[in-house]
Amino acid sequence: MSNTTNDTFHITGLGGKRVLKGEVKVNGAKNAALKAQATAVLFGTPLTLANMPDIADVQKLDELLEAMGMEITKEGKRKRTYNARHFSESVFPAHIAKHIRASVVATGPVLARTGKVVFPHPGGCVIGARPIDFFLNGYKKMGAVVREGKSAYTIIAPRGGLRGAEIFFPKVSVTGTETFMMTATLAHGTTVLKNAAMEPEIVSLGNFLKESGADISGLGTPTITIKGRGGKLLRARSAYTIPGDRIEAGSFCILVALAGRDVTVSGFNSEELDALLFMLEDMGMNIEKEKRSVRLTAGTKTALKSASFTTHEYPGFPTDLQAPMVTLLTQSEGETTVFETIFEGRLRYTDELKFMGADITLMDPHRALVRGPKALKGRTLESPDLRAGLAYVLAAIVAEGKSTIHAVSNIDRGYERVEERLVSLGVDIERVHQD
Ligand code: UD1
Repeated sequence: MSNTTNDTFHITGLGGKRVLKGEVKVNGAKNAALKAQATAVLFGTPLTLANMPDIADVQKLDELLEAMGMEITKEGKRKRTYNARHFSESVFPAHIAKHIRASVVATGPVLARTGKVVFPHPGGCVIGARPIDFFLNGYKKMGAVVREGKSAYTIIAPRGGLRGAEIFFPKVSVTGTETFMMTATLAHGTTVLKNAAMEPEIVSLGNFLKESGADISGLGTPTITIKGRGGKLLRARSAYTIPGDRIEAGSFCILVALAGRDVTVSGFNSEELDALLFMLEDMGMNIEKEKRSVRLTAGTKTALKSASFTTHEYPGFPTDLQAPMVTLLTQSEGETTVFETIFEGRLRYTDELKFMGADITLMDPHRALVRGPKALKGRTLESPDLRAGLAYVLAAIVAEGKSTIHAVSNIDRGYERVEERLVSLGVDIERVHQD
C-alpha cells in the first residue's frame, strides 16, 4: 500500500436518490488478520496467512513484527508467511507500536515466547479512553511482574515461564480475550477466561490454534479454558485463511439501505451480521440471505422506517457499525435513540453530521437522539477515526452537492481502497493524493 497519509476523497452526492447497483465483495477481516499476525510469535514452524486485507494497520503490524525479528515473505497481495525461528526480541519499537492499538495483542505472545515484553501505551482510533488494565492485571495473575514507566510498560514473566490463572474480565474485551487465549497456550497449567468475548473472529482464531496443537475449549461461550503447553511452540499444519470482514460487509449493507437499489454483498458469513440484517429488514429493506452473501433490494420509497438500537458485544449490534448506522437513521423516518455502550466518545463524530444538516441531539457521551429524514448538504470534513470516517463517506454519498473528506488515512487503516468498490456500485468518488 502506498503512503496515503494526505489523501482526500472528493464525493459528488446523490442528493437522496436510490441508484446504486451491482455486487461488492468484502476482504479478509481486519480484526481477524491483526490477531493472526500476532499469533505467528507462538509458532515454531512457518505460518502462512491467506486472504489478508491490504490495509494500513496490517502493514504496520508487519513492520513491528519484522523489526522484532519475524521473517515475513509475501506471495501476491493476500498471502504472507511468517517465520518466527529467530524471534527473540522483547522490546517493541515505540515509533510503530504507538500508532496501532492492536499491537497490544502481540504483547502477550511476545511475553510468553521471550519471557519479557516492553511496550509503549498503544495508539489506534481516538474513540475515548482505551485503557489496558485488563492486560496488565492478567499478566500479573499469570505470575508476571509489571512495571509502569514514564514511556513504556515492562512485563517480566516468572522464572520458568508464565503460569495458568483464572482471569475475569470486568468488561467483555475482544483483544483481551484473544491475547490471553494466545498467551495461555504457551503457559504452564490451565487458564480459565471468564466473561470472555464471543466474537466470530475469536472462534475462528481459536479453532486454528487448536488445529496447530493448542488445547482450548469453550470457544464462542463466555468461559474459555486453555491448557498450556509449558513453553512448547505451536506447529502449523495448514495455512490460516482470514475470515471475511463482517464489519466491512455491514458498512456496505448500510450504504445500500441509504442509496441502493439492488446490491449483493459477498465474501463473508451472513449469519455473523444478523444484528444488522434483521434491523434493516424491520426498517423496510428486502433481504435475501445466502450463506456467504446477502442481496439487498429497496422498494420505491426512499426513506426507511427508523429503529432504535444499542451497541453490544457479539452477537449484539457491533459498535463498529454504530456510526454508519446513525448516518442511515438521519435519512430514516422517525425519532430514535442510539445507545453506545462500549466506548465513551464514540458519538463525537455526530457534530459533523449535524454540520451537514442532520438532526441529532447528544444527550450524554453514550446516547444520541436522531430525528429523520433530514436532507444532508455536501461539506468539507476531516475523518476523525476509522469507522466515523466511513460514516462521513456514506453521508457524503447521500448528500446534495460535493463533499471533501480529508485524512483518508484513517479510513485506509481498515478499508482497502474502499473508493474502488464504491465506484463499481455507481458512487461518484475520487481519491486525490496531496504531497
Ligand atoms: C476490538 C476491536 C474494535 C471493536 C471493539 C469492540 C480489534 C483490533 N478491535 O477493540 O474494532 O470496536 O473490539 O467490539 O479487534 N477495556 C478496558 N480495559 C482494557 C481493555 C478494554 O477497560 O484493558 C474496555 C474498553 O475501554 C471498552 C471495553 O473494554 O469499553 C471493550 O473493549 P475491547 O473489546 O477490549 O475493544 P478492543 O479489543 O480494543
